[in-house]
Amino acid sequence: MENLSRRKALSLGVALGLVGVANPVHAWASTGSGTGAAAGTGPEWIWDDAADPLMASMLDKGHVPAINTAWASWVNNNDPLPSGLPADFAAYLRQVNRLPSWADPAKLARAADFNRRKDTYLFMLYGLGSGIMSTVIPREAKSVYWSAGGADMQDRAAKTFTFGYDLSELGAFGPTGQFVVTANKTRVVHAAVRHLLPQSPHWRAVADETIPISAADILVTFHSLGTYVYRKLLDWKVPFPAADQEAFLHSWQVAIHLLGVPYEHIPRTWAEAEKQSARVLTPILTPSTEGIALAEELLGLTAQIDLGVTRGFLNEFVRYVLSDEVGDWLGLKRDYASAALVRTAWPAFILFREGLSPVMPGTFYMFDQFVRALAMLFLNKGSSGSTTPITIPTGNRAG
Ligand code: HEM
Repeated sequence: MENLSRRKALSLGVALGLVGVANPVHAWASTGSGTGAAAGTGPEWIWDDAADPLMASMLDKGHVPAINTAWASWVNNNDPLPSGLPADFAAYLRQVNRLPSWADPAKLARAADFNRRKDTYLFMLYGLGSGIMSTVIPREAKSVYWSAGGADMQDRAAKTFTFGYDLSELGAFGPTGQFVVTANKTRVVHAAVRHLLPQSPHWRAVADETIPISAADILVTFHSLGTYVYRKLLDWKVPFPAADQEAFLHSWQVAIHLLGVPYEHIPRTWAEAEKQSARVLTPILTPSTEGIALAEELLGLTAQIDLGVTRGFLNEFVRYVLSDEVGDWLGLKRDYASAALVRTAWPAFILFREGLSPVMPGTFYMFDQFVRALAMLFLNKGSSGSTTPITIPTGNRAG
């Protein structure tokens, strides 16, 4: 039985570019970076000692609406902390709202520049690859679905995209960037969710854990974002020099540390990250009622905006980046003409954009419009003109 699921995980891993030997039984035992493999001490047993008790108390005392109002204007990394925050909450932020000592500003600047240069592929891969992959990560799908934000997926998708967008801005980690603030806001949102979701009878009925969003879960999500995108860029033969690869990893190391994952559990190299991903991400991918509903909502959002492509094309692009197996799990209807188009025209689009082929594919403008429209959709710029602010929830999805 175990061999069968290992084989299944391996073939899915190959399809997703998340290759390696997967063994879910000892998932965290030899991550290379991880210590504390013994039961009870690995990252699946770590939540957030600094933020969790604080947010439980903020929620219980009814301070969250005031925090949400007060921090709306707190955006740039060098903005002073806003007034109107409870004293213990402000004291916490003062402690954590900075880069770790091991952060390397030169690498972070390079990563931001890389993210900007490659934003076309990053939009597609984060938005349609990682975004839809999150719906087949059962713990993530169930907690996102049953948290307050699950009821409005466009808003949630836009907020999550804010994280990637702020991470990708030039100077994201510098004084006038916004990433350190966005990451800290996200960290306390997660802490609030750890207090709220266990109170949801709906979540409790489907969850296989008592407290959501452990450090291990965050690492799993990191692999569905950073590690997945890293592998896809290489597979797609997008020029990706070693220094850019290192910088891209470093920006993710800092990002997940700002989300509260202890340094010793963060992969040190891409090789280590890919190994860990093969152990902890690939074998757990599976559909769930919540995930199927979320994927449908996310892909249905595109009906509201003209992406220049049909829903069939979108389904096939998702299948292209995530495999037919995942596409079948999610019930994505086939459109074989679009499937053939994506598989031939997307590689040609990359070659031309990267100056590796002088031939501009006839479909160039179609892909170009598709990418731009997706970016607009996720950034919510169509209506508001700015990215969606992150707010701390005060309850769960009603049902
Ligand atoms: C909220 C990013 C890991 C579940 C958020 C938000 C961001 C974010 C930016 C705030 C926007 C919003 O309110 O929707 C990330 C990143 C992760 C990560 C970058 C890892 C690298 C996880 C994991 C889970 C999770 C592992 C669950 C297993 C949630 C939930 C919310 C949330 C339930 C709250 C949504 C609400 O407002 O109801 N996350 N997240 N996240 N995240 Fe995460």
